[in-house]
Amino acid sequence: MPSRKVSKAIIPAAGLGTRFLPATKASPKEMLPLVDKPLIQYAVEEAVSAGLQDIIVITGRGKRAIEDHFDVSFELEENLKESGKEKLLKEIRRISELANFCYVRQRHARGLGDAILCAQHLIGNEPFAVILGDEVIDAPVPAIGQLIEWYENLGTPVLGVYEVEPEEVSSYGIISAEPAGPRLFKVTDLIEKPSLQEAPSRLAVIGRYILPPGIFSVLEKTQPGKNQEIQLTDALRTLARSSPMHALLVNGNRHDAGDKLGFLKATVEFGLKNPELGDRFARYLKGIRF
Ligand code: UTP
Repeated sequence: MPSRKVSKAIIPAAGLGTRFLPATKASPKEMLPLVDKPLIQYAVEEAVSAGLQDIIVITGRGKRAIEDHFDVSFELEENLKESGKEKLLKEIRRISELANFCYVRQRHARGLGDAILCAQHLIGNEPFAVILGDEVIDAPVPAIGQLIEWYENLGTPVLGVYEVEPEEVSSYGIISAEPAGPRLFKVTDLIEKPSLQEAPSRLAVIGRYILPPGIFSVLEKTQPGKNQEIQLTDALRTLARSSPMHALLVNGNRHDAGDKLGFLKATVEFGLKNPELGDRFARYLKGIRF
């Protein structure tokens, strides 16, 4: 029996980011800045504030900037020290001390399921969290922490879900589910990108998961699906058929920052909430004529 204590998070960041080309041609999508922090830092901070200290980042070709971002930068630190920029120095040092980082390379972008499989040897017989760095969730309680709480109670996989607009249903994995508690559902099936007519609900699986180690053997047997990629949704569907699975309607404001429009919306909302820039930014926005 695997323990119910979740201490590790996988952050898959090896995708090609085609929705954000040409920006992502030579730089990782996960390093796009939302106001003043790269997207992946939001994911790491979410994990850390939910008590996850071991962060496994799945990287690939052209993703070195991610490792550099979370590493110590002696030259920069010296420069900030000499120029008396104490506040910035503290912030820069904090980033490299956030968590224990480990990087695994996915040699070919063969899908999210394959990316997760790359971390199998680092997870062992423990449950783990998956956080997709291009989805930023502004929440009163860290989104992944909301899922962990239920996992520790139930011991079944817990998927984060969000209620999407009817026109968005066909872009997501949608669950078929029965109510099981406050914001909680028992998953009976998952359907990848259904038409609105086929969709059993408007509850879309988002980039937050707590998974048991048993998912690895399912992923190993999962055949490539859409775009010849190993789809995590396909493996979850198999798992849901043989053992109980739950979904939690995450409480928070979710942004799909891997999409250009989603990224712009997130920038506006985080800009308005920024303590140093918010007021000036709001005045600027009010003054724009459409
Ligand atoms: P996405 O489909 O959102 O990301 O995958 P993508 O493939 O990078 O972007 P588009 O769709 O082409 O614009 C969800 C997450 O899974 C990771 C991505 O980095 C992203 O965080 N991923 C995806 C991998 O790590 N490896 C893969 O082979 C595919």
